Amino acid sequence: MRTEQAPIIHRSDYAPLAWTVTRVDLHFALDPQATVVTSRLACRRNPEAAAGPILLDGEELETLSLTVNGLDPAAGTVRRGETRIEIDVEGDEAELEIVTRINPQANTALSGLYRSRGGYFTQCEAEGFRRITWYPDRPDVMARFTVTVEGDKATCPVLLSNGNLVEEGELPDGRHYARWEDPFLKPCYLFALVAADLVVLERRELTASGREVLLQLWVEKGNLDRTEHAMESLVHSMRWDEDSFGLELDLDRFMIVAVSDFNMGAMENKGLNIFNAKYVLAKPDTATDTDYEHIESVVAHEYFHNWTGNRVTCRDWFQLTLKEGLTVFRDQQFSADMLANAAGAEGADSARAVKRIDDVRVLRAAQFSEDAGPMAHPIRPESYQEINNFYTATVYEKGAEVIRMLHTLLGPEGFRNGMDLYFSYHDGQAVTCDDFVEALSEANGVDLDQFMRWYSQAGTPRVRATGDWNAADGSYTLTLAQHTPPTPGQADKLPLVIPVAVGLIGADGTDLPLQLDGEQHGGATTRVLQLTEATQQWRFTGLAAEPVPSLLRGFSAPVILELDEDDARLAFRMAHDSDACNRWDAAQRYAERVLLALAADAAAGRALNVPAPFVEAFARLLSDERLDPAFRAQALTLPSEAYLLERMEPADPAALRAAQIHLTAALGKVLSDDWQSLAEALAVPGEYRYHPADAGRRALVNLALRYLAAGQVEEGVALAVRRSESATNMTDRFGALAALVHGAVPAAQAALGAFYRRYREDALVLDKWFALQAGAWRRDPAAAPVLGRVRELMADPAFSLSNPNKVYALLGGFFRANPGEFHAVDGSGYAFWAEQVIALDAANPQVASRMARALENWRRFTPALQALIRPQLERVRDADGLSPDVGEIVGKALAD
Ligand code: TRP
Ligand code: ZN
Repeated sequence: MRTEQAPIIHRSDYAPLAWTVTRVDLHFALDPQATVVTSRLACRRNPEAAAGPILLDGEELETLSLTVNGLDPAAGTVRRGETRIEIDVEGDEAELEIVTRINPQANTALSGLYRSRGGYFTQCEAEGFRRITWYPDRPDVMARFTVTVEGDKATCPVLLSNGNLVEEGELPDGRHYARWEDPFLKPCYLFALVAADLVVLERRELTASGREVLLQLWVEKGNLDRTEHAMESLVHSMRWDEDSFGLELDLDRFMIVAVSDFNMGAMENKGLNIFNAKYVLAKPDTATDTDYEHIESVVAHEYFHNWTGNRVTCRDWFQLTLKEGLTVFRDQQFSADMLANAAGAEGADSARAVKRIDDVRVLRAAQFSEDAGPMAHPIRPESYQEINNFYTATVYEKGAEVIRMLHTLLGPEGFRNGMDLYFSYHDGQAVTCDDFVEALSEANGVDLDQFMRWYSQAGTPRVRATGDWNAADGSYTLTLAQHTPPTPGQADKLPLVIPVAVGLIGADGTDLPLQLDGEQHGGATTRVLQLTEATQQWRFTGLAAEPVPSLLRGFSAPVILELDEDDARLAFRMAHDSDACNRWDAAQRYAERVLLALAADAAAGRALNVPAPFVEAFARLLSDERLDPAFRAQALTLPSEAYLLERMEPADPAALRAAQIHLTAALGKVLSDDWQSLAEALAVPGEYRYHPADAGRRALVNLALRYLAAGQVEEGVALAVRRSESATNMTDRFGALAALVHGAVPAAQAALGAFYRRYREDALVLDKWFALQAGAWRRDPAAAPVLGRVRELMADPAFSLSNPNKVYALLGGFFRANPGEFHAVDGSGYAFWAEQVIALDAANPQVASRMARALENWRRFTPALQALIRPQLERVRDADGLSPDVGEIVGKALAD
């Protein structure tokens, strides 16, 4: 039986509440199954809103008492619903006291107050606070919080909440308490509480204005030796926000807590950030370079939220990208600066490009596919059933691209002026995306009305480019045409403002000075053109010969560029484009072309042949020692399977997988000498340090091992076996293991076993081990399907369906990172998917919903696969007691 459909919430329905809250005083008497929460709310009528009752939200609360101004409410003034209480009150002020009882132990959704490894933790964004106590749970209600936490001293010696510690003491029966006061107004989604047995790494720092602040990093006992990198990252983030935006830490104390069970990456609760342990803990033996990088950027992201999100917050959840897009942009800029600093003057540009390429890769794999499916939404959605489903690549990553375009259009100074004005207007307020863009517009005296369409139109715009060379007058006319395909509920789109960074390359491979018709210009070699109409033309003059266009340099807009280039031209740009992003992109386009052609051959049962010119172009990049290893690693990594499936019509994962297996094996075998000498020459000597230069070399060596193992090159496999056994750091050890597994060489099994024995006690390391096997390829069609191994691994004592990291590693690794196996033609993967989504949904809808999304783009697949997927989607849709989270995903997937 299917449950009632969740109501649809519309952005246009926003209205301020009749009553708001000014002060909150919370008391928690912690108990595993019966925590009592006493909440005193000072409520005030909102003079700007229409008259009405006090509205409170609640979910799974046992209400013990409720008084209004110290008295039982008069008959008929309180209306109680399952998730809503309405209270009629006379006058303009009222004090409510509400006592609720909650069961943290039974809270498997990890939203609200829950337990993890003996401790208590909270997660309130987006709507988790209502699972703690009755409250107007929306971000435009901003109040001052005081919190008293009372708990068992032996099991929970550490009691934390937002702000400053103002009192602590002993209580009878082995209990103790701590009282915290947050001096800043905040919405309840930024409330946090932690009570657990933790140890701390501390550091005192001075802010730019000379105030001393205490930085604390709380982790479980035994993990202190993995905290240094996160602390360093935090200090770097503080400095960067001071230097780049003049924004200082506003609290005396800033805490980060690591927790093992967490639905997402981390949470920016005011003064008390709570992190998935995965984004805190690192030491060389357990964390890879990529882990170090992610930790740095997530620490920065949450820290930056203190201003973009907390000091200025969102009026309603439709504005989510106001804080997320902007904060992702800020963390991307931070990481780029950190990489550039470490690389030194000479390597800075390449280091920045490598970071940009990383970000573009994520956008293309995760966001473009979202735009192409039933969940497509503008960065500011118009409606939702479950807000947790909208913490998406669109809101985050495309949101960051939109901010980046503003940065490009206004220039760094103009952007900074706009940010300054934004804070001067809106500090302490809950605002909208319009407020943000208006501040930027006013500070720069530019009209951004048309630009606002980026906030309301969904879909990935296509920019079609054509060039026309006129030999007679030495001019080159570039025509750019834009078009955004329809998305669900949005058939017709208007032209957007699209900044297109353009360069022209001469026959010798160097950039030509750009001279636009009728314009006196200093001969810059890259210029940003603003495409604002459906079609526009630009005429470049003074050219001696036909140039090669290099468009969308630095990926200057989140669009798909359509440009007809033959193989020779792609190879030329792979070798010469001065814009590293475009050089990488040329390699990606060429590889895409080759892979899709191979996939078509595989689907038709034809023999697979890798074109020699591609191998030559690839080999030239491989051995170009002028290129930074980190860049080479990017350029020699094939486009992601997710991205390629998006480009395939219809998507045929088995054929694509066959193509990838063939191409990686061929590149490994044919270029085995190059790969081997590269692996030798670039091996990083000495002790591990997290440094981008070393990381780039390790990445390229690991890539070499991958190709060598894929090509079953004996010496390469032997090298990978050695490194998987005796590497001195996780990057090398895991890189070698991954090469063996992806190469499906016989030695992989023993290496996996040894790895497991070595790290059997280490949950975070085992996540890698699970994910690696879930994502394995079968190079021998007679080998057992990966699904069987996934089922076996679910029974491993180290696996747990209640730990999100484990689910993302093993099930996510299979559903999302292994399309070639998940989409097995017998439909076995789909039945398994339905079974797991239903099981997960009963315990944790947020996690289930993320897994459910693995099939949302099912209509892009071959008719045979679609016929197998549909009944499984229907099975999930019809499951008993389905959550609104999963209900929204499968509902939209099945809608006509
Ligand atoms: N605001 C968090 C961030 O981006 C995201 C987040 C953390 C979240 N935990 C969550 C979102 C739980 C929804 C549900 O930094
Ligand atoms: Zn965020």
